[in-house]
Amino acid sequence: MRAIRVHRFGTPDVLGPVDVPEPEPAPGEVLIRSIATGINPVDDKTREGAIGEGTPPLPMTLGWDLAGIVVDGGDSGLRAGERVIAMSHQLGTGRGTWADLVALPARAVSVAPRAIDLVEAATLPLPGLTAAQTLDWLAVTAGERLLIAGAAGAVGGLALQIARARGVRVDALVSRAEQVGFAREHGAGLVTTDPRDLPSRSYDAVFDTFGAFVTEAVADGGRYASIATQAGPVPDLSSRGVRTTVHQVREDGAGLRELSGLVDRGSLRPRVHAAFGLHEIRAAHERFAQGRLTGKIAMIF
Ligand SMILES: NC(=O)c1ccc[n+]([C@@H]2O[C@H](COP(=O)([O-])OP(=O)(O)OC[C@H]3O[C@@H](n4cnc5c(N)ncnc54)[C@H](OP(=O)(O)O)[C@@H]3O)[C@@H](O)[C@H]2O)c1
Repeated sequence: MRAIRVHRFGTPDVLGPVDVPEPEPAPGEVLIRSIATGINPVDDKTREGAIGEGTPPLPMTLGWDLAGIVVDGGDSGLRAGERVIAMSHQLGTGRGTWADLVALPARAVSVAPRAIDLVEAATLPLPGLTAAQTLDWLAVTAGERLLIAGAAGAVGGLALQIARARGVRVDALVSRAEQVGFAREHGAGLVTTDPRDLPSRSYDAVFDTFGAFVTEAVADGGRYASIATQAGPVPDLSSRGVRTTVHQVREDGAGLRELSGLVDRGSLRPRVHAAFGLHEIRAAHERFAQGRLTGKIAMIF
């Protein structure tokens, strides 16, 4: 079978499908035939060798996101032929999803949403779980005020929709004028490209997706979560009673089931900017690296 395996770190030129043995599912695992996957910033950083300590040993199969069809559900309750989505913590386990067949622990797998196709669904797991888990940490409740920095990005755009579905009042900091419409259409109140427009010490919670560190916006006693690991820790705000974290996404099949439910109820929709075939993997990565995307880059097996 084919897998996108990295034998040395570098530019997208190091990527290309290679022939590897098919995985044998261990007890408790589900064997999935891949239909599509997505490219996430972490894949880029891993390929470049920019992660450093904690990177799995070479050669390694890349990829965190997966949408596919169950080949062997083991004792998971998932049946052969069922449509599923999964997120594999590739950095933590070395189990990449960019392969024709992937064996994953059942706890990382969920039924896929029925309302969208598997190419769209493949772009949901990593950004969606990051969004939902970070919102859970922030514990924002209906009627509270949340600021999302990077609200039109992959994680931010899903966080905006999930927060709105939870009845949270959301304002949005975005990077460029073209993103204002997206944030407004998805229920953001104040939408700005300029952090100076943000009201001071007003938000019950801030969800920071790019290391904006707009700490002046969070209310005293509030919560501030960043996911931008590479930007370092959130400044210490304990003197103002503000709790802070840099959230790290976890494998979570139950969380994926909740995301599938939100999609099927019409409250959540992942966005695909473009889809590439696996043989176009370098072109897919070059497009990803150019930025200015209006959704995810998907890859189809
Ligand atoms: N800790 C974790 O577990 C975890 C999980 C997932 C992702 N991440 C990290 O979180 C970050 C976001 O991931 P993502 O997939 O959502 O990336 P993304 O799709 O590129 O989203 C980032 C968003 O932030 C915007 N942005 C960047 N700089 C900005 C600025 N100065 N002002 C306003 N907006 C700005 C970007 O705008 P443009 O489109 O104009 O660039 C984009 O809309 C990445 O660094 C990723 O590695 C961490």
